[in-house]
Amino acid sequence: MNLVFRPYTNTDAKDFASAVIASLDTLRPWLVWAHEDFTEAEARQWFATTHTLRQTGAANELGLFAEDGRLLGGAGLRYSSEQTHHCSIGYWVRSSEQGRGIASQAVRYLVDLAWQSPERDIVEILAAEENAASRRVATKCGADFIGIQYGLIMLDSGPVNTAIYHFRRPQ
Ligand SMILES: CC(C)(COP(=O)(O)OP(=O)(O)OC[C@H]1O[C@@H](n2cnc3c(N)ncnc32)[C@H](O)[C@@H]1OP(=O)(O)O)[C@@H](O)C(=O)NCCC(=O)NCCS
Repeated sequence: MNLVFRPYTNTDAKDFASAVIASLDTLRPWLVWAHEDFTEAEARQWFATTHTLRQTGAANELGLFAEDGRLLGGAGLRYSSEQTHHCSIGYWVRSSEQGRGIASQAVRYLVDLAWQSPERDIVEILAAEENAASRRVATKCGADFIGIQYGLIMLDSGPVNTAIYHFRRPQ
């Protein structure tokens, strides 16, 4: 499937909220912001945050869409203010569209985007140790497994063992 990557607009709010609510079975265990009462207003608030993050150079959060306009999920490149050579990727895909390579395509797109900034050398993915699907995405896209560190991710249950994956700028 060809994906369209673009910033969110307020007209996406309804689809975003309904995608989150329809995907709680897979999002809820791993994303603390996903909850059963997620509203269009919360979606618009998130979109406004993503625009600010982009303007300030803190992150590039994008919606993932099918060519026919369906909202499939979200993914973002987050920059580190302390380490300019370092950035990280986060992602989610609506439950009904998982297992079709969408997250992997988004990761490859964002990694390529990261290399367009000459100062970036490392792109990181952090996944809860038990989050097998997310870890598979990192591995499948060619990231190196660095190790497990406790507490880099906070779930509702508290801090958890976190798997660290790195992409390094191709020489
Ligand atoms: C992680 C997530 C984004 C993957 O999205 P996706 O579009 O299904 O990803 P892809 O189709 O590119 O790849 C998923 C891979 O994980 C595998 N997978 C899925 N569930 C799995 C499981 N329980 N155990 C092992 N592998 C699993 C799939 O088989 C596939 O690998 P394959 O192509 O080798 O068969 C999606 O599951 C999701 O949104 N999860 C909830 C949010 C989340 O965890 N985000 C990441 C936070 S770090």
